[in-house]
Amino acid sequence: MNFKFANRVLDIGTEKAFQVLAKCRELEREGKDIIHLQIGEPDFNTPKNIIDKGKWALDHGYTHYTQNVGLIELREAIVDYTKNYKNINTNINEIAVVPGGKPIMFYTIMALVEKGDEVIYPNPGYPIYESLIRFAGGTPVPMPLIEENDFRVDIDDLRTKINKNTKMIILNSPANPTGGILTKEDIEKTAEIIKDKEIYVLSDEIYDRLVYNKTVPFSIASIPYMKDKTIILNGFSKTYAMTGWRIGYGIMHENLIEKIDRMIANVTSNTSAVAQVAAIEALRGPQDEVDKMREEFKIRRDLIVDGLNSIDGISCKKPEGAFYVFPNIEKLGLKSEELSDYLLKEANVAVLDGASFGEYGEGHLRLSYATSQENIKKAIDRIDKAVKRINI
Ligand SMILES: Cc1ncc(COP(=O)(O)O)c(C=O)c1O
Repeated sequence: MNFKFANRVLDIGTEKAFQVLAKCRELEREGKDIIHLQIGEPDFNTPKNIIDKGKWALDHGYTHYTQNVGLIELREAIVDYTKNYKNINTNINEIAVVPGGKPIMFYTIMALVEKGDEVIYPNPGYPIYESLIRFAGGTPVPMPLIEENDFRVDIDDLRTKINKNTKMIILNSPANPTGGILTKEDIEKTAEIIKDKEIYVLSDEIYDRLVYNKTVPFSIASIPYMKDKTIILNGFSKTYAMTGWRIGYGIMHENLIEKIDRMIANVTSNTSAVAQVAAIEALRGPQDEVDKMREEFKIRRDLIVDGLNSIDGISCKKPEGAFYVFPNIEKLGLKSEELSDYLLKEANVAVLDGASFGEYGEGHLRLSYATSQENIKKAIDRIDKAVKRINI
């Protein structure tokens, strides 16, 4: 049927990862044994104490609506967690619980950005940022995060991008797809540039527990004059292996919460009560599973980085956060999309092309190491053999 679609949905973006997954499923139906390095979710199960609490919630009446912005007990747990882990003071009126980290992007961009507004966003970066800026009618302005600069913000470049139309800057540290981390100095300098301007910051901190150098990533909201202008996006998907539960949250000024509260009332009413109760357990319960997962990710990171660097034509920096590597493939002489298609067909290894994270991601692939050490070793071997067959 030929729908007469509203203009706003004609060009809405998506995530390549879901498209590649669909392709993989077709190949798997034909009997191919695909190694999945395209995925952006932990391969671990949710820790047992959290699952048990979810079951408990079902048995104890958590089968009803909750407040739009989430249960008070969960928001209290988020307040305590944010104080204890990040040393940021907040309160329950500054928190909105939503189904995943992603809706915080949607709600806050929709609430703040309109036609004529420019939003500076990380490129390469999580593709949904650019998609939502456009969806809201704003103009996306890429902030290049390049390898020579360890995928960090180039402050001089950022300064040139800010003008009277700039409404928001999006930061993401540790980052998808590069695994890069912004230093405290990067963030302080960014804040300094916008100190006296009405520019908001969406700080995507969803990978804040996945850091391998034992530091707590610095949040721009820790700078007192930035607190009111910052929206922290965080959640449970990555830290607690809870992608399928769909729960995350935003921390922002209560005047903005008021609008988000109404938007939630218009869309989902609330986040699943069961997921909310389980999330309280995630924050208040033992954290040893989180530590174990991080230790395992670190071993895998080292394995995949060493493996990629042993392949002729590929070089890979060692990232300090998240569970992705972003190797340079320029020497192979193929565009990143050609190479990722080739690897899927010829090596049965699914990866994402760097260009699908923005034009500054060209020349790279994104590989997720959220898979077993055995799969990583097998994938490296397959990639090595397939790359040797490319005529360069
Ligand atoms: C940078 C970044 N932010 C947010 C999200 C969304 O997380 P959630 O699944 O909780 O919506 C992702 C998921 O891949 C991500 O990589």
